[in-house]
Amino acid sequence: MISPKSRPLWVGTSWKMNKTLAEAGSFVDELLAFNIPSGVQPFLLPPHTALARVRERIPTGSPILLGAQNAHWAEEGAWTGEISMRMAKDAGATLIEIGHSERREHFGETDRIVALKAVAAVAQGLIPLICVGEPLAVRDVGGAEDFVRLQLQIALSELASDEISQVIIAYEPIWAIGEQGIPPRLDQITPVMALINDVVTTAGGPARAVLYGGSVNPQNATELLSDPHTHGLFIGRAAWEASGFIEILKLCAPLAGAGAGPSTIYSRNLPWPTTAALL
Ligand code: PGA
Repeated sequence: MISPKSRPLWVGTSWKMNKTLAEAGSFVDELLAFNIPSGVQPFLLPPHTALARVRERIPTGSPILLGAQNAHWAEEGAWTGEISMRMAKDAGATLIEIGHSERREHFGETDRIVALKAVAAVAQGLIPLICVGEPLAVRDVGGAEDFVRLQLQIALSELASDEISQVIIAYEPIWAIGEQGIPPRLDQITPVMALINDVVTTAGGPARAVLYGGSVNPQNATELLSDPHTHGLFIGRAAWEASGFIEILKLCAPLAGAGAGPSTIYSRNLPWPTTAALL
């Protein structure tokens, strides 16, 4: 029997480069018909094209938070193809995903860029959702913890210590992500989840939450959440259909802390809360 968490469970999905406006709308409609369990904080990261439309579709008072999968660190200007943190916020984002391994691998996003984006997000009152994780070759030689420690220290390096508690970290080992991903064993992730909590706390945390992502599915969600350092799940493929997301949200219900319903966290329609209110 796994005991319920003492803090909200953050459970979200990035749609990556998927979904037309119609497909996004159908997903949201199906999700809105589901009663989000108390203590679970759901979030969706649509593609930029669908963000504002999804925001409009979600009624006032809904606990569902939205985010963008990427945004630039500069306030504005000649950055063809990019959007700024301010634009993402304007379109409905509360969270900004930063440093996903696909962005690092295919778009040259470095640890330094991740740090600049994290501080730019906080400056706009957005929650940075910072992704870290090691490639298989690094894990194979026993380097996972050193690799993730360094990634994380650099990612947090531009933030003031009193800003650290605003971030969410997602541990996403590269070998576990996507079609070729290998679902992790709990003993593979537990030491890294503990390390992430330690690094963030040393930097001024604890973090708002530390999530696990990479081949999360209905078969392993409960076990992954049994890790005491894990405060939620960041899901790809298994949640791209609303029914899959809902299935995992249901599994989270018994693990979510009693009384810590989403409304006690905040609603996207309320003014941005003070840091103290979120701790
Ligand atoms: P996956 O993707 O769940 O499809 O492995 C996870 C991620 O990239 O965040």
